Amino acid sequence: MRIALGTIPFGTTVDEATSFAILDRFVEAGGTMLDTANNYPFWLEGATGDESEATIGRWLASRRNRDSVVISTKCGARPAVPGARTLDAAEGLSAGVIRAAIEGSLRRLGTDHVDVYWAHVDDRSTPLEETVAAFDELVLAGKAKEVGASNHAVWRLERARSLAAARGGARYRHVQLRHSYLRPRPWVRVPEGGHTQVSDEMLDYVRSEGDLTLWVYSSLLAGAYTAKPMPEYYDHPGTTRRLAVLDEVAGELGATRNQVVLAWLRAQDIIPIVGVSSMAQLEEIIVDVKLDDEHIARLDAPA
Ligand SMILES: NC(=O)c1ccc[n+]([C@@H]2O[C@H](COP(=O)([O-])OP(=O)(O)OC[C@H]3O[C@@H](n4cnc5c(N)ncnc54)[C@H](OP(=O)(O)O)[C@@H]3O)[C@@H](O)[C@H]2O)c1
Repeated sequence: MRIALGTIPFGTTVDEATSFAILDRFVEAGGTMLDTANNYPFWLEGATGDESEATIGRWLASRRNRDSVVISTKCGARPAVPGARTLDAAEGLSAGVIRAAIEGSLRRLGTDHVDVYWAHVDDRSTPLEETVAAFDELVLAGKAKEVGASNHAVWRLERARSLAAARGGARYRHVQLRHSYLRPRPWVRVPEGGHTQVSDEMLDYVRSEGDLTLWVYSSLLAGAYTAKPMPEYYDHPGTTRRLAVLDEVAGELGATRNQVVLAWLRAQDIIPIVGVSSMAQLEEIIVDVKLDDEHIARLDAPA
């Protein structure tokens, strides 16, 4: 199943029993990829940022299934000041932070390696050479199988990959950004700190490089396709036109809007990361809807 399960609320707003049940069902349905970070959900009053990884770690221990899942986790955006609730105090991507952060993640997850290790947000105050070398060190040590960059500009991703190639080391093979079928108005700054919207240039870059996989978050707009009001920054004529085609295609296939959005992303070899807070939501998103070329052309047409 080419969906990664987002795990931000596991162990906090989604209790452990429900989190375990969702994880069990996801794996039973053929899911393998779990996306977390060393700071989820630090912004929540009463949380430390350890909760998501720690919940996954307890689930892995109780199910003894580490080898059948792909663990994707991140460093760089945990507050360096305990209790801080914004990214102003983010730990950054120095070699020292990266070396310490992976140990924290491995401990919470109860594993000796992660499958994809991400730079969560760019850190322009640390020399890129230092960050690239530190990630390479983790790959050489077997602590991370592959590395990726989240919330980076195209030029920074390209520069990091070039630096890695020049030193013959591991380079970012994954990129994670915010993306869905609907797009916010150009120039809008989305309210979620650190979120970076995918750009046409990034899509072009990923398509042109043979070894890059794009993962996208907020792929279901946090439920706004079906269950919540659409945020104001999606208010533009393109949204109206895209929702009309989305409803048309969904109606023809007997599918939901969410299912068609996920199928549209997967058809472009993009991995959607989907967060769910209930079993009913999970059951909806694991249905594998297939789109043919005509559906995709129709969905792509409105802008
Ligand atoms: N790299 C990054 O910077 C970054 C940033 C954000 C997220 N992420 C990753 O991406 C994951 C998902 O991100 P997200 O939570 O922003 O995006 P999302 O998947 O678009 O939103 C998740 C929310 O959508 C609602 N939802 C899910 N399935 C639904 C369904 N079938 N019907 C109705 N509503 C449904 C639920 O809201 P309710 O719980 O309110 O019902 C759920 O909590 C995260 O867990 C995380 O792993 C990464």
